[in-house]
Amino acid sequence: DQSLRALSARHGLYFGTAVDMAALDDANDPQYRQLVQSQFNSVTAENVMKWESLEPTRGNYNWGPADKLIEFAKKNNQKVRGHVLVWQNQLPPWLTEGVNNGTISTTELRELLRKHITTVVKRYKGKIWQWDVVNEAASDPWDNPPTIHLKGFWAQHLGAGYIADAFRWARAADPSALLFYNDYNLEAFGDKGASDKTWYVYKMVKQLRQSGVPIDGLGSQGHLGTQYGNYNVFQVKEALDAFSDLGLATAFTEVDVRSQMTPGVQAGDSNEINPRLQASSDNYSVLLQACLANRHCLSYTVWGFADNHSWVPTWFSNPPEGLATLYDESYQPKRAFYAVKGDL
Ligand code: XIL
Repeated sequence: DQSLRALSARHGLYFGTAVDMAALDDANDPQYRQLVQSQFNSVTAENVMKWESLEPTRGNYNWGPADKLIEFAKKNNQKVRGHVLVWQNQLPPWLTEGVNNGTISTTELRELLRKHITTVVKRYKGKIWQWDVVNEAASDPWDNPPTIHLKGFWAQHLGAGYIADAFRWARAADPSALLFYNDYNLEAFGDKGASDKTWYVYKMVKQLRQSGVPIDGLGSQGHLGTQYGNYNVFQVKEALDAFSDLGLATAFTEVDVRSQMTPGVQAGDSNEINPRLQASSDNYSVLLQACLANRHCLSYTVWGFADNHSWVPTWFSNPPEGLATLYDESYQPKRAFYAVKGDL
């Protein structure tokens, strides 16, 4: 068995993918399901465990799609990464509107968050390997001000304390799940100044651990764009090592490497016919090699595995970007696939 899951298992590593439930259920797209089963031994819900999907109207939970993924994973002997409990995006409108129009007070909001975390984590108690408890809480150097700070809905309404609260509530609801802080642009340290996001998150999780907050892991999303240039394995390993030296597990949780669809690069291109896409496979490798070299890196998850089911072209449209995954639009493995396979 030369699948990514079998090769990873020999290293004690889990190779995961985000799963689009609509694609998994699409009878006209059998290859999608077949590849999820054969290549991966960990799965993450791309969308169906987000708050807007789980509780679209207040008090009415829609568990169906999330339950289905859990069942699918069990059948296929796969771990599940729970994604995501606290995030400023994909919140249900009843919640954000209620807060904005003043019908939900700050006290009530905090209680709603506690209830949400408790309800979701308890429902899947014993079935989730790693939970992304808090996602994307830190700002970026291109935000205003460029000094890294806590950003978004939760910090704005509940203050910095929501992070520690969220981890404590999650731990109480399922003591056996590993609890992660998850964010992007954490692949390497910069100058360790006020605008270095990796350094900011490092100090934040260190502080959390020192104050006894139950955090077990650091999730580095790994959304890369080739136009930023390549990282090297040593830089990336150095960052992972810093986090694991705090006693945290590490994981790459959402790896994809997008290319700009500039003239000469078109949808459907593979690295074989377009050498300008080489950087994509190089970056997949760098993150994987760093993960393999860090003794506490539990899993390497890609954010979708085929270019016909990737969030990149819809999300990054100005300028257009794409071709970010391991397989092309007709499920042919690309150079990036052979690169990660060769690393395992
Ligand atoms: C993305 C999904 O892939 C899209 O389908 C959705 O429209 C928006 O969210 N960081 C995260 C993920 O933590 O949840 C995001 O997923 C991608 C960025």
